[in-house]
Amino acid sequence: MQSYLVTFIIRRFDPEKDSEPRWVDYDVEMYSTDRVLDALHRIKWDQDGSLAFRRSCAHGICGSDAMRINGRNRLACKTLIKDLDISKPIYVEAIKGLPLEKDLIVDMDPFFDAYREVQPFLQASSKPEKGKERLQTVADRAIFDDTTKCILCAACTSSCPVFWTDGQYFGPAAIVNAHRFIFDSRDDAGDARLEILNDKEGVWRCRTTFNCTEACPRGIEITKAIADVKQAVMRGTESQKKSLKLLHAS
Ligand code: SF4
Ligand code: F3S
Ligand code: FES
Repeated sequence: MQSYLVTFIIRRFDPEKDSEPRWVDYDVEMYSTDRVLDALHRIKWDQDGSLAFRRSCAHGICGSDAMRINGRNRLACKTLIKDLDISKPIYVEAIKGLPLEKDLIVDMDPFFDAYREVQPFLQASSKPEKGKERLQTVADRAIFDDTTKCILCAACTSSCPVFWTDGQYFGPAAIVNAHRFIFDSRDDAGDARLEILNDKEGVWRCRTTFNCTEACPRGIEITKAIADVKQAVMRGTESQKKSLKLLHAS
């Protein structure tokens, strides 16, 4: 298979040495079927062991390697070299809007704080019959199926211009994960979550710019999920659930 020499320009920052981030070039031999994550590995293993980035699964599951590649938020492990224009350098930098820690690593605490605040877990007031599961119809499940796919990579929240200017905004990922439980027929805490998201830093801060939807590596219709939550705040959860079920049935 033919290989290519590809230039990667990476925005590096070492808090112990640098006062400002700096761009550093690396030439790496790549195959078209390689991914940007492979390039980062080759740079770290063969050229500069001090390069810092997060990754775990390397297969689009764990959500740990979201970064800006040529100005777009993507997962490095899901971005193939053949899908990039390698006649020009490929720019790689950390996601925006979260405090930069080192090179491609940001502090994810503000992101997970917002996630925790929306109570992203099932809260059922009654117990199922002994030895039985909590049953749910296919139609009931369908209305929140999309938002179950989130891998908490932060590509959405860190591409949102509202979040860049106001770090207090819950951000699209937290709303997606609230949606996943608000519309779950087995859950009884939807109203409590809606109250949290009806806050001044909640759903109403969204300006429908769609950056989040474009950035999501799982293809979740995030802006639509936010609109569902806005509707539930205005009309009540049950009424919005009915509308969504009708929509899915049609
Ligand atoms: Fe990542 Fe999509 Fe979840 Fe946002 S909604 S955190 S982009 S998987
Ligand atoms: Fe931000 Fe997405 Fe709304 S990018 S403004 S949360 S549509
Ligand atoms: Fe797990 Fe990319 S390394 S999603």
